[in-house]
Amino acid sequence: MQQRILVTGGAGFIGCNFVRHLLDRTDAAVTVLDKLTYAASPAALEGLPPDRFRLVVGDVADAPVVDPLVAVHDAVVHFAAESHNDNSLRDPTPFVHTNLVGTFTVLEAARKADVRLHHVSTDEVYGDLALDDPRRFTEDSPYRPSSPYSASKAGSDHLVRAWVRSFGVRATISTCSNSYGPWQHVEKFIPRQITNVLTGDRPKVYGTGAHVRDWIHVGDHSAAVLAILERGRVGETYLIGADGERSNVEVVRLILRLMGRDEDDFDLVSDRAGHDLRYAIDASRLREELGWLPEHGDFEAGLERTIAWYADHQDWWRPGKAAIEAAYAAKGK
Ligand code: NAD
Ligand code: DAU
Repeated sequence: MQQRILVTGGAGFIGCNFVRHLLDRTDAAVTVLDKLTYAASPAALEGLPPDRFRLVVGDVADAPVVDPLVAVHDAVVHFAAESHNDNSLRDPTPFVHTNLVGTFTVLEAARKADVRLHHVSTDEVYGDLALDDPRRFTEDSPYRPSSPYSASKAGSDHLVRAWVRSFGVRATISTCSNSYGPWQHVEKFIPRQITNVLTGDRPKVYGTGAHVRDWIHVGDHSAAVLAILERGRVGETYLIGADGERSNVEVVRLILRLMGRDEDDFDLVSDRAGHDLRYAIDASRLREELGWLPEHGDFEAGLERTIAWYADHQDWWRPGKAAIEAAYAAKGK
């Protein structure tokens, strides 16, 4: 029988890539529930087959919308969130609303209708690691979030775990590392630097630029979420990562080289408050238990395709670019 999958936040960066992955790799019928905040890209959902796809505009924290929608689906994949750390330092309010109250609302709907749920979370719930620490995050790492964003995501994970244990909700969680690829908002690190170069500006790197992120292509993140939805053990958390650790300065130099510019042609700007030093993922459980393997492990090739995508999609990102840069400039970034 055809599965009916509800994807919250499906107009956002990872959500829209996941929806396309789901439509390509399964015969599921997909509904997206999305509030269409500043971060959404409805354009990314244009042209999808109307017999298998529909968009519902609404808030995940609005129970009268969420309850009946969840009840007519076989599974929910919950991406909807406020996702940007810098914004959470400017105003944490929407982060508490969407990430905590929204997840609570989705959990209550899944409980009442007994619907399978996958909750999409982040490696930031584990805090950070020292640059020279040989360890990586595992499913046993303690929760130690640093920012209002990561604290709200950690809180949402705790809600999911409590609803599994107390009410028997059939939920899994994934904590993934930094994702990159098409349709990522220009406020985020990689798109900001690519689009700065395309607009004749210089890339902006926070602090010393020694901070390390563990990069994974959004296509690999999507495939991992689908594997967990289909074969993951209820109640488990799976780390998603593709062994992609690189410092921010390394990434910026690579972008500049791939775009034909001098590798030193960037600015060091004021640091992010509470800036996490390093994230690193051990994805052994996902690989060994579910047989997932990254298909886009070559970071340089993935970055080259992403640069080409932003060069080809200037109509999409140019209208919002100046306002984002003005907001950063006002904060010395
Ligand atoms: P995004 O900001 O690009 O998209 C978020 C989407 O959620 C947008 O379409 C927005 O309109 C929608 N949304 C926000 N508030 C809503 C609400 N109240 N009701 C309904 N919809 C709402 O985010 P993203 O980068 O695609 O991240 C998606 C999920 O993946 C988040 O839960 C995030 O924590 C997690 N995650 C992201 C990354 C990453 O590198 N981007 C890595 C790991 C985990
Ligand atoms: O690790 C997963 C997380 O990755 C997700 O949960 C978040 O939703 C996602 O936004 C991302 O969080 P980061 O804070 O790591 O991503 P961001 O793109 O904001 O920044 C990546 C790194 O680059 C970080 O060390 C801060 C730095 N940075 C960022 C920007 C925007 C800069 O040096 N310059 C910049 O202009």
